[in-house]
Amino acid sequence: MSGSILLLLTLGVFSALFANAAPTLVYSVADQLPVIARVDKVYEFKLLYNTFTTTSTTNITYTTTPLPPWLSFDNTTLSFTGTPTADDVGTLNLTLTAFDTSATTSSFSILVTDEPSPAIHQGFDTQIGNPALHQFNTAQALPSHQGVYIHPYYSFSLGFQQSTFRSAYGASSKSIYYSAHLRGYTALPSWLKFDNETVTFSGTAPSQGSFTIVVTGSDVWGYTAIENSFVIEVGTAYIDVAEDKQLANVTTTAGSLVQTALDLSIVNVNGKAGDVSVEADLTEFPWLSFDR
Ligand SMILES: *[C@@H]1O[C@H](CO)[C@@H](O)[C@H](O)[C@H]1NC(C)=O
Ligand SMILES: *[C@@H]1O[C@H](CO)[C@@H](O)[C@H](O)[C@H]1NC(C)=O
Ligand SMILES: *[C@@H]1O[C@H](CO)[C@@H](O)[C@H](O)[C@H]1NC(C)=O
Ligand SMILES: *[C@@H]1O[C@H](CO)[C@@H](O)[C@H](O)[C@H]1NC(C)=O
Ligand SMILES: *[C@@H]1O[C@H](CO)[C@@H](O)[C@H](O)[C@H]1NC(C)=O
Repeated sequence: MSGSILLLLTLGVFSALFANAAPTLVYSVADQLPVIARVDKVYEFKLLYNTFTTTSTTNITYTTTPLPPWLSFDNTTLSFTGTPTADDVGTLNLTLTAFDTSATTSSFSILVTDEPSPAIHQGFDTQIGNPALHQFNTAQALPSHQGVYIHPYYSFSLGFQQSTFRSAYGASSKSIYYSAHLRGYTALPSWLKFDNETVTFSGTAPSQGSFTIVVTGSDVWGYTAIENSFVIEVGTAYIDVAEDKQLANVTTTAGSLVQTALDLSIVNVNGKAGDVSVEADLTEFPWLSFDR
């Protein structure tokens, strides 16, 4: 009897808490490694769409601390855009506020520099396609060079070149800072470790899955200047599409119906034509549906 009263009281406290819950900060903006702004170059820093989440029925609205004239924030795409000039060089300390029935904030900085950006020197597809440029242990390059294939539960390592990204000042001048995350997140899955000094991934594969790993390079730690990605496929068979037979892109205009069928005959299983079933992750595209 007293147990159920206690339970009811507890439930009451929980629902009261939820009714007044502020948005939850899922991925801090600073952890998203803000893109560095460069003088006279078009700037874009797009936040993860689920940076904040809410349990409230009121939609989240977003505001920022005052922005300089060159920078604007689009509160529907969660993007900072603009083109800074030489007068804008410096560090902007900003706060993003998400509000449903109350507010949650995330503070971060945007750096404006007149230094040139590092660039991709040897992309992952080039390195994966050339055995002299990678050092893989128990992992196999996918024939398309888009990534690697690893057997379930195998421990593995993937060594890449220090020169994946290169400073605009050349190979030996300035250092490049490396960081890596799973696409759509700010961290790697727990089974995958990244040594940013040797540009080496290692770990023990999970049971199955396809994981897009984004590696960022920067001339300043804590920010992003450049990025490149590759795929880790774990399963009992590897699935890929030959490099010269990619799925076609679909272009559409706002407000018009888009309908397209995937040509699965170009998909290979273990390097040969085979049966595949397809799933689509459309969480970022609520207006699309997929009939498998
Ligand atoms: C919240 O946003 C959704 C999707 O944009 C919209 O359909 C809905 O009407 C909004 N709800 C409120 C209470 O504004
Ligand atoms: C975006 O800004 C406009 C204008 O300030 C405001 O009316 C709208 O509610 C905002 N939407 C979001 C999602 O923050
Ligand atoms: C921005 O923040 C950093 C560290 O939090 C601080 O050192 C710097 O002085 C701040 N810059 C401005 C312009 O407020
Ligand atoms: C590697 O990451 C650490 C923080 O985890 C950082 O301090 C260091 O500068 C990074 N080194 C390189 C070469 O990216
Ligand atoms: C589709 O678009 C993406 C992004 O713009 C591009 O990287 C890719 O090469 C395009 N694919 C084809 C087959 O044109």
